Order: sequence, then C-alpha cells, then structure tokens
Amino acid sequence: MKFIAPLLASLLLTSATAFRPNQPHPFAGKLEKGLEHRSSDHRLETSKKKDPNKGFVGVPLEVYSRNDGKTELQWLATITVGTPPQTFKVVLDTGSNALILPGSNCTDCGKHSLFDPSKSTTFDPQPALNNTIEYDAGADTVPPNNTGRAECVVVTDTVAIQGLSVSKQQFMLCHNYGGALSSQLADGILGIGSSVVSDWTDDGDFTYVPFLPGLVVEAQSPNRIVGLALGSGGKHQELGPEASIGGVDGARYRGRIKNVNVNEALSELFETFIVDVQASYVGSGKNKKPWRNSTNDNKPLTPGVSFVDSATAYMLTPDRQTAADLYANISRDIIPLDDVGSWGASCATLDGVAMDITFTIGTKTGGDLVDVTLPKSAFNLGEYPGRKGVCQAAFSHSDPPFYEPLEGRPAWVFGSPLIKAYYTVWNADGGTLGWASGADKAKVG
Ligand SMILES: *[C@@H]1O[C@H](CO)[C@@H](O)[C@H](O)[C@H]1NC(C)=O
Ligand SMILES: *[C@@H]1O[C@H](CO)[C@@H](O)[C@H](O)[C@H]1NC(C)=O
Ligand SMILES: *[C@@H]1O[C@H](CO)[C@@H](O)[C@H](O)[C@H]1NC(C)=O
Ligand SMILES: *[C@@H]1O[C@H](CO)[C@@H](O)[C@H](O)[C@H]1NC(C)=O
Ligand SMILES: *[C@@H]1O[C@H](CO)[C@@H](O)[C@H](O)[C@H]1NC(C)=O
Repeated sequence: MKFIAPLLASLLLTSATAFRPNQPHPFAGKLEKGLEHRSSDHRLETSKKKDPNKGFVGVPLEVYSRNDGKTELQWLATITVGTPPQTFKVVLDTGSNALILPGSNCTDCGKHSLFDPSKSTTFDPQPALNNTIEYDAGADTVPPNNTGRAECVVVTDTVAIQGLSVSKQQFMLCHNYGGALSSQLADGILGIGSSVVSDWTDDGDFTYVPFLPGLVVEAQSPNRIVGLALGSGGKHQELGPEASIGGVDGARYRGRIKNVNVNEALSELFETFIVDVQASYVGSGKNKKPWRNSTNDNKPLTPGVSFVDSATAYMLTPDRQTAADLYANISRDIIPLDDVGSWGASCATLDGVAMDITFTIGTKTGGDLVDVTLPKSAFNLGEYPGRKGVCQAAFSHSDPPFYEPLEGRPAWVFGSPLIKAYYTVWNADGGTLGWASGADKAKVG
C-alpha cells in the first residue's frame, strides 16, 4: 500500500540524511526530533524473546488469497495493542511507515477486529491529531477505481509483535476506513518502510517514530533489518511465509544475498524503498529481448525507478503505453479488462503465452546490479474478479500515471508477484534491498 505522498520541495531539501552503515548512528539527528514527542525514557527492561543465537525474531505470516490460493494478495502478521493486549492482523507494508487500525467507533470497518481504547490501561489519546489518509492501492490485483480515504486520529499505546514491543507507539486509530481498507481481510496496516522518523502531516510539524525504529530505540531489535520470505513453495514449503525482524533467516534462502543500493534521495522523500531500474527484458534464455518502447522508435525502455511494495498485489508500469507495448509483444490476445488498468486474456491463453520478465536494478555508483525476474509462473495472477475463465496478467497501468516521472525517470511499482519470487532483505539502516534465491526456484541473476 502506498500512501499519497506530498511532493514538497522543502521535503526534498531537508531529507538529505542517508542511512549508511558507516554513519556514527543510523538515526543521527532525525530521531531526536521524533523523540521530542515521546516521554524521555524508553529503555525497556522487559525480557526479550529474541534468541541471541538466531539474531532475529521470526514472525509467521498468513497469506490472504483468492481463487483457491492461486491469487495471493496480502501477507499478514499478528500484532497486539494495549494492556491487556488486543489482537489484530495487519499487512506488513514496505511501502509505508504508519500503523493503521480500526477503532471501536468505526462506522464502516466491516468484520474487522476493532481496537477499544477504553479497555486498555496504557492507552493515551494524545497527540489526538486528526488525520485523513489517502491510499492508492487496495488489497486486490485490480487497481482501485478511486483514491481511498480513511479518517483517523493519532493516538498512543503499547504495540507488540512476537514478543517485541514498543511501549509508546503512536498510531492511527480510524473511525472511517474508506473502501479498500474495509474490504481487505487484514484489520490494519503495519508500515515497515524505510523511515527513521516520519510525519503525520505534510509540514514536518508532527513527527513520530515508526514501529521498526521504535523497536531499536527500546532495545528490542538491534537494527531495522527485515527479511521477507513471502514465497512458500519448494523445499521449505512446510515452514510457511515469514518475516524476520533484526536479521536474515538463513533457513529461508540459498546462496548469496545480493544487495542493491536504494535510490537514496527518492527513498528518503517517499520514506520507502525505491530502486533504480536500469533495464527491462521480456522472455528468457536466447529469447530474452529488451522490453521496447513504441513511442521511442522501439528503443529499449528508458532507465526508470521503482517503488518496491510488499502490499501491492500486482506490478504497475509507468504508463499505459508501456503496458500496451509489453502485451503487444507477448500476445495480441492480452487486452485491457477494465477502465482502471488491468490487462488479461482467457486463462488458458495467458498460461500459454506467459513469459519471464526481468529487470536490472540497482545504482551504478555502488552495491550490486541485480537481475530480478518475475517468473512466468507468476505472470498469470489468476481469474479476474467476477469474470469466469478470464485471467489477469501481472502488469497493470494507471491512466493518468499514478506517478509522473521521478527525477525525470519513468516510475514503476514492483509488487508482491516479484517480491515473493525471492527472499528479500529490507535494510533501512544500510539503505539496501537484498535479493536471494528463496525456497522457490527463482534465481538471482
Ligand atoms: C470516533 O472517535 C474519534 C476519536 O475520539 C472521533 O474523532 C470520531 O469523531 C469518532 N467517530 C464517531 C463516528 O463517533
Ligand atoms: C477532530 O475532528 C473532530 C470530529 O470531526 C472534531 O470535533 C475535532 O474538533 C477535531 N480536532 C482537532 C484538534 O482538530
Ligand atoms: C470505475 O468507476 C467508474 C465510474 O464510477 C465505473 O463506470 C467503472 O465501472 C468502474 N470500474 C471498475 C473496474 O470498477
Ligand atoms: C517511452 O518513450 C517516451 C518518448 O520518448 C518517453 O517519454 C517515455 O518515458 C518512455 N517510457 C519508458 C518506460 O521508457
Ligand atoms: C517481440 O519483440 C521482439 C523484438 O524485441 C520480436 O523479435 C518478436 O517477434 C516480438 N513478438 C511479438 C509477438 O510481437
């Protein structure tokens, strides 16, 4: 899930801090500002369930899917909030930083578990900031028709995951959820984006420390590293999907983890993980060809950038033409399925023509340049909602483009169909995104 981020020049100018390992402290400076709003002592004496021999805490994830499991939509973790703990299922979202939960007075939160502040002895209604959030991706493979809007109030309470807890976590408690949040399976969203300190508003006046850095502040986690094993096939099928907090889980990947440097300036600006896309290819082996741009004399696509977002269940091309060029090159049978940017064909056709799609990602100035492949087995997202026998292809577009070019480069969104083909390592301290062969077969090129 990506929230609609302000593109303020002031943000561009003030967000120059880089989270590189060689910095004295990854949170230098920024954190102090966020902590102004918290009480002074956060050192926790509570026993930590973290096994020092393992170096990480494993969080089992539950997959929310449809089409009998073929279409995987979201990966949910269980958290508790308040004292005594109230339990919620939340989407782990690398594309945002906030925790968003429905409150007990929510008017349109469907069947979700609702947080009842009156039942928590640690609840603090402060900072009591009214906040409306807009979000652009729902829980499904079909891009949302309208911008979602949730109305919430920022409040504070204890939040815990697998025994790791933050005692005074600010989060959004919503009394109105808007369409996509109401209809998803998860009760809420737990942002695990890259930000050390985030802001509830556009102007830098209401900063807070998101959950992951909060774990570090309270000495619950040594770092802001999260490993994601979303794919659950192959030899470790019995283990099921997992997030590891504080380090990588060696049982979940094979070979070396290749780390790409994120695009620092854009990742800072959007408080998320954005990588440079150097090249894009269609097909595999001898038939691997550049993805070509019909509006540019059929030259290979221009280098771009991509949000990498665990809470988006599809891939989003920079614009309509880019999607049209891909599908024209794969099969004329793949056509638009609706007016919101989904493409597809009959399920048998789509399975027959599916291809590997490969992106070369990373910065040329450092880190690894890595070829990541959306395997052809993930090209077909499964049956389109309400249309029997018609299946959706992995790439959708948004018209007009959801993101205008960033730094002059076409902007993509790489969602879970690509992420789940790998074991991924989201290192917000180091400013890197790591890719390794997961339990599934996908290889890192
Ligand atoms: C729910 O509670 C919040 C916070 O107290 C308040 O702002 C909101 O108006 C309430 N909504 C309803 C429908 O009562
Ligand atoms: C928050 O919203 C509620 C309901 O709309 C309103 O009554 C209240 O005054 C608002 N609070 C602030 C601080 O703006
Ligand atoms: C999107 O909204 C428009 C106008 O409300 C409607 O005509 C169209 O059918 C909707 N499309 C989808 C895919 O829901
Ligand atoms: C395709 O070419 C057009 C015209 O040169 C350019 O504006 C656009 O950014 C290109 N798109 C991609 C994805 O390379
Ligand atoms: C796809 O493009 C390649 C060149 O990049 C071309 O060889 C191939 O014939 C095209 N396939 C289709 C179905 O258009």
